[in-house]
Amino acid sequence: GTPQNFYEAVGGEETFRRIVGRFYAEVAKDEVLRPLYPEEDLGPAEERLRLFLIQYWGGPHTYSDQRGHPRLRMRHVPFSIGPIERDAWLRCMRIAVDEERLAEPERQQLWAYLEMAANSLINTWV
Ligand code: HEM
Repeated sequence: GTPQNFYEAVGGEETFRRIVGRFYAEVAKDEVLRPLYPEEDLGPAEERLRLFLIQYWGGPHTYSDQRGHPRLRMRHVPFSIGPIERDAWLRCMRIAVDEERLAEPERQQLWAYLEMAANSLINTWV
């Protein structure tokens, strides 16, 4: 039927599964980001980000059922995130989003959010 929200308009779970899967394939190769991830297996981190984005854009609330309130700034405090880490994160995410070939204006809307969110998680300036 007619899409009811952004999540449905961009294709639902499969779209987020591809974007976040592609993102973590880049993280695995990234010499700035990879050392930040505490676990050897990136699979659980991939699932958390996928479920968060699905919930944020209007899909099922599985993220909060499992993890509670997102409180993203607090959850990133253990990781030293400065401009270099933000840029690395956005570089990996840019590849993932561009490969998805979303229609406009959804592509721009998603990207604007991700840039804003990444900037808001900077917690280190040295
Ligand atoms: C978790 C790094 C930006 C959403 C994490 C983790 C790291 C990390 C190392 C722990 C992995 C895990 O065990 O889940 C970074 C860096 C960023 C960044 C370096 C650069 C700015 C973002 C942005 C978002 C986001 C922009 C959302 C749009 C999440 C979520 C989790 C997470 C949902 C899992 C939280 C939980 O439930 O524990 N991030 N992140 N991150 N990140 Fe980020």
